[in-house]
Parts: sequence; structure tokens; C-alpha cells
Amino acid sequence: MSATLITNIQLLVNTRTENVLLRGSALADLPCIEDAYLIVEHGKIAAYGLMDDLVHNHFTITDVIDAEGQTVLPAWCDSHTHLVFAASREEEFVYKLKGMSYADIAAKGGGILNSANKIAAATEDELYNSAWARLHELVQLGTGAIEIKSGYGLSVEGEIKLLRVIKRLKQHSPIPIKATFLGAHTYPLQYKENHQGYIDLIINGMLPIIAEEKLADYIDVFCEEGFFSPAETETICKAGMAIGLKTKLHVNQLNSIGGIEKGIALNAVSMDHLETMTQDDIQLMGGQKASLSGEVWRGIGTLLPTAAFFLRMLFQPARQLIDAHCAIALASDYNPGSSPSGNMNLVVSMGCIQMKMLPEEAINAATINGAYAMELEQEVGSIMVGKRANLIFTKPVPSLAYLPYAFGSNLIDKVMVNGVFLND
Ligand code: NIG
Ligand code: FE
Repeated sequence: MSATLITNIQLLVNTRTENVLLRGSALADLPCIEDAYLIVEHGKIAAYGLMDDLVHNHFTITDVIDAEGQTVLPAWCDSHTHLVFAASREEEFVYKLKGMSYADIAAKGGGILNSANKIAAATEDELYNSAWARLHELVQLGTGAIEIKSGYGLSVEGEIKLLRVIKRLKQHSPIPIKATFLGAHTYPLQYKENHQGYIDLIINGMLPIIAEEKLADYIDVFCEEGFFSPAETETICKAGMAIGLKTKLHVNQLNSIGGIEKGIALNAVSMDHLETMTQDDIQLMGGQKASLSGEVWRGIGTLLPTAAFFLRMLFQPARQLIDAHCAIALASDYNPGSSPSGNMNLVVSMGCIQMKMLPEEAINAATINGAYAMELEQEVGSIMVGKRANLIFTKPVPSLAYLPYAFGSNLIDKVMVNGVFLND
């Protein structure tokens, strides 16, 4: 079988021989090889090493790519997005610029409910086509694996329509996709005073179809004051877990109301957002402290700096979480309301600029730890034999730190997906 040999790579980044979820000081450990080669076979990484040690007798090399002067990284693993939506919301953005608050906008029918109304009016094909275009843009920006949530349907028809779109994306996408059911994103207007009614609809109306059609890998809830309480979160997640979905949560974006404790009790794979954290929350997330029920959490804290940036909120306490031994992932939260960008290069830059993560920490958080947050660490997230050859080839850069430093430049020369360059 034919193989592709990539030679003279100036810096090959995140080279590993085994998978480890990185916590604490290990997050800053980013193994790299200077002057490296890499061999791709069957779309996967087959070998890599120092140019000086290049031996490829047992590979039939049919193609040689000279990567002189280029840095090669594993493609970004974006573990938190709301990629499927019907329309952008820049009118709300302008209202905010003119001084309106999020609450004022929500009262005018804006926010998540605005997106839900537009989903109701859109066909599955329209949603698929617009999401496909967004996905294509992100892959060109270096994203090599992605998680996509529903949550703008808020009715049986709407949520199932969104999840079917995600399933179609999964079937046709060149990069791996994980699907998350976020029916509990907000209460639809007609259930504002009847929370139990909507929870019943999720459990008895949506989850059985999701189970039947295998539409999701995870269940997520927006656990916040004014949205879903910790008790409601538990009821919904347990019903999801009963059909085999693991938990991911939106927690502590706006308030600290016990969502972290709940995520630990639910053995959440990841807890995401984390803008508003108490010292106790940080200790719990790092496994420094047991939860009230005695459990020590070993999951992942996913930080979404572009959402904090767009909403002008305090950035997530990355340094404190890392120091508390929490495993940190970085993700884009791509959605029309709070992060209308899925550019992971920008996310990595903001992790460094605004949250004081080291370049090595931010790159690990956006690759291998992001892969773990989607349980895709066997497939993507590092340069390891047997993983997909989903790779970023940069333009010539003076050092690795230049990537997050030069935040406004497009430093990507080419992107390889499953061993093939895009647009080839
Ligand atoms: O993750 N916080 C909740 N949900 C989305 C934003 C929702 C919206 O405004 O559309 C988020 O930031
Ligand atoms: Fe989100």
C-alpha cells in the first residue's frame, strides 16, 4: 500500500507514544521534534521521527512532501460548539452596542428563543447546507474533530430536526463529529411557568426518539439561575444516562449555584464555561476536594474564552484551575449568540493573552485534552502512530510561541485531513 513521506519538518508538535489526559504541570509539557519526518499510510500516521533517523524500508513511498520551514501540529479538537443554527444574530449584537442588556434583549424575544423561532421555520436541508458550509470553513481553519450540540429546537420536532442534521454531518464529514443533545438549553415561552411540563417533554417526547434513531452521544443542560436548576439538571441527565448518553454540562457561566457538585455526582465527562467560579468550585474541579457525596472528579474543565470575550465577561480562571490539577480543554463555543466564531487559532491565542496560559498549555488544551473531552483520544489530538493524519501545516514561523502571539494573522499554510490536503 502506498505511503506519503513528509520530510524536513522544522518542528513536529505534540509527538507522543501514549495517550495521557494532561493535568496540572503536565499541561505545559508539549513534546516536539525539530527537523522531523512523518509517514502517512491509509490516512493515518504510520511513523515519525528525526530526519537523521529516517528509515522507511517497509513503506512503499509513492509521494514525498517537503515541509521545509514548516511547523506541523495535530489539527485542533473543538469539543464544544453549537454549529447548527438557522441564522446569525448580529442585530442583537448592535442592540447591545447601543446599551441594551441581555435580559432586555431576551424580553424582546431575542437570545436562544430567537434562534429557536428561526429553527422552527427552517428545513432540514437548509440547516444541513448552512452547517456544512460552517464546518468546511472550520476545517480550513485547522479543526480536525468537533462536537456539535442541538439546543436551538426546544420542541420535539425542532430538537430532532437539529440532531438529524448533526447525524447527516457525521455521516458525510471527513473529520470525526460527536453529537450532544441540549434540549435543556432554555425553557420555551409556553413552559416558562411549567418547568415540569418541559422536562416531561424532554424525557418522554425527545429521548425515546434519540434512543431509537441513535441521534446523540452526550446529554447537556444549561445549569444556571434563570435556566435549569441543579435538581432539574440531575433529573434530565439521569434520563439521558438511562439511554446511554454521558453528561456534559454548561455550568458556572453566570452564577455558581451548585452545578459543579451536580456534574461530579453525574460523573460528567466535561463541565464547560466556568467564567464564575468560587475557590470551592475550583478545588472540586481539580479533584483536590471530594464532593458532598464523597466523589473525587477526574473529568475535564472546558474553557471557552471567545464566549467570555464576546460577552465582555471575566475570563475563565485557567491558571487557578491548572494549579488545582484540573484537566483543561479549550473550545470555541461557536454559536450565533455568544461566540459567532469557531476559529480555534483565535481561541488558543485568547487562552494565552487573556487567561495567561502558556503556548504549550493552550496547544495541549486545544488538541489532546480536547480529544479526551470528546472521547476521541484514540483517533485524534496528537502525533501518535495509528491516529488520523489530521494535521496543520503552518507558514514559516520563528517559534511555536509565535502562533498565539501573532493573533490576527492567518498562519496556516495547508490542512491535511485523513492524509489528504484540503483542496487537492
Ligand atoms: O454556550 N450559554 C448558553 N448557551 C450558549 C449561548 C446561547 C445563545 O445565546 O445562543 C453558550 O454560550
Ligand atoms: Fe455553549
